[in-house]
Amino acid sequence: MNLLLAEVAQATQRLADAGVPSPRNDAEELAAFVHGVKRGELHSVKDADFDARYWETIARREQREPLQHITGRAFFRYLELQVGPGVFVPRPETESVVGWAIDAVRAMDVVEPLIVDLCTGSGAIALALAQEVPRSRVHAVELSEDALQWTRKNMEGSRVDLRQGNALDAFQDLDGQVDLVISNPPYIPLTEWEYVAPEARDYDPELALFSGEDGLELIRGLERTAHRLLRPGGVVVIEHADTQGGQVPWIFTEERGWADAADHPDLNNRPRFATARKAMP
Ligand SMILES: C[S@@+](CC[C@H](N)C(=O)[O-])C[C@H]1O[C@@H](n2cnc3c(N)ncnc32)[C@H](O)[C@@H]1O
Repeated sequence: MNLLLAEVAQATQRLADAGVPSPRNDAEELAAFVHGVKRGELHSVKDADFDARYWETIARREQREPLQHITGRAFFRYLELQVGPGVFVPRPETESVVGWAIDAVRAMDVVEPLIVDLCTGSGAIALALAQEVPRSRVHAVELSEDALQWTRKNMEGSRVDLRQGNALDAFQDLDGQVDLVISNPPYIPLTEWEYVAPEARDYDPELALFSGEDGLELIRGLERTAHRLLRPGGVVVIEHADTQGGQVPWIFTEERGWADAADHPDLNNRPRFATARKAMP
């Protein structure tokens, strides 16, 4: 075994002992980060290059600091985003929410689809849609000034229209025109605080995680915002917790002007996002 392999194996064991959910992945990612290579290029690192910085990063991860805060970057679909204290780290399960949204917009056959991302955080969803949906016009809103420090960096040079404000009354200039409203809002019930993984509880901003006792407070408000923004036939896509698949689609009822409300699983087959279409008048 070469030195690097041995060090990574030892680091993996330390992270596993600390309860890190994917210890091998993180030990390799941190080795790649420290050496400035991709994970698949680790074999090219010379044994003699191995240095103490690696063990500093491992010690931080052992304390359950998120991998992405240590490296300062998060990968999301085809994007590499800058992240750190003050902004929510985008999660892989949100990638499938965006995947569904891209298919939905393509199926609309609109030349320049108008898209709104509510609660944009790092900008992950808005930027992915701007990149992957040709000729889309993407608008995004975020409330937290701390988060926006990161959003602005990530959106530099992009064509996303970023605004600061409350999602609930955002984009009144776009009322009735939007083709797709998408959101990954805070949705963890306050009652579940103690069960949240330390990486999220201690490092993601509280405003990004919790929304009232049952976690659905903001989603209930966003239902009205989405209805105001969408054109008839436009579509809303909202991420939720894997325990809320039986509740969120019921917020988008026919009485409130919706059709085709449905719930969808993520790649792990857990209930993950609800969708609905604004009913025709
Ligand atoms: C779960 S994070 C999701 C961030 C990003 N959309 C993503 O998927 O990575 C929720 C975000 O909503 C923001 N937020 C919470 N309440 C908001 C509100 N009323 N209006 C706008 N943004 C809000 C938080 O600051 C946070 O950035």
